[in-house]
Amino acid sequence: MRSKIVAGNWKMNKTMAQTETLLGELAAKVPDTDAEVIVAPTFVNLAAAVNQLEASVIQVSAQNMHYAENGAFTGEISADMLLDIGIGTVILGHSERRSLFGEDSALLSKKVHTAIEKGLRVIFCFGEELEDRKSGNHFKVVEEQLKVVFDLPLASWKHIVLAYEPVWAIGTGETASPDQAQEMHAFIRKAITSSVNKEVADKVTILYGGSVKPNNAQEIFSKPDVDGGLIGGASLKCDDFMAIVKAL
Ligand code: PGA
Repeated sequence: MRSKIVAGNWKMNKTMAQTETLLGELAAKVPDTDAEVIVAPTFVNLAAAVNQLEASVIQVSAQNMHYAENGAFTGEISADMLLDIGIGTVILGHSERRSLFGEDSALLSKKVHTAIEKGLRVIFCFGEELEDRKSGNHFKVVEEQLKVVFDLPLASWKHIVLAYEPVWAIGTGETASPDQAQEMHAFIRKAITSSVNKEVADKVTILYGGSVKPNNAQEIFSKPDVDGGLIGGASLKCDDFMAIVKAL
């Protein structure tokens, strides 16, 4: 049985007070579920979020981190700093990090290795751009992006969650159809089977992300290789996020 996860990526949204309000609502309304529920507020609010959710099943994730242990990296945050405040999960490779902040596979590989070595769980994001899909290159692009995790030692895989997020579906209101999501998730398991092994491919949790909303979540989550979602916009509203959690 693979773990099921709904994770909310809040991106650069919510002040401290707004974070406290939304977390209070979420903690009060989170349904009884066998899925993991995770929220990823911005860095400055992580410690407060961990404290506020101490008695809740809701977990807190970071949205990014630096690969270095420490040092002269102005503005950056290390794995140890996250662990020190009680964070157990970090999102790496989000398409906005790739496209707006120039993060490529070489950099992401360092980040993923550091995170795992330090004992963090990684939600590793990847996905093709619209042109890739139009030209029929989407499988090739995704397989290439996955090389970052194919390099990992076998034992690391239990700390990896994959998040397939087609770039053309992120924040656009355009979702991959449930069949497109299933097709890619099945492809990802096949690629892991050939590059790693079948056991890892069967066990790894693969989330879908990209305009998941209360009205489409259930159909997407009903697909056999989709184990949950990474939610952006809809994770900023308590009722929408909780409806998506219930859909899983
Ligand atoms: P979206 O974002 O749900 O707003 O499309 C998804 C994501 O960026 O993870």
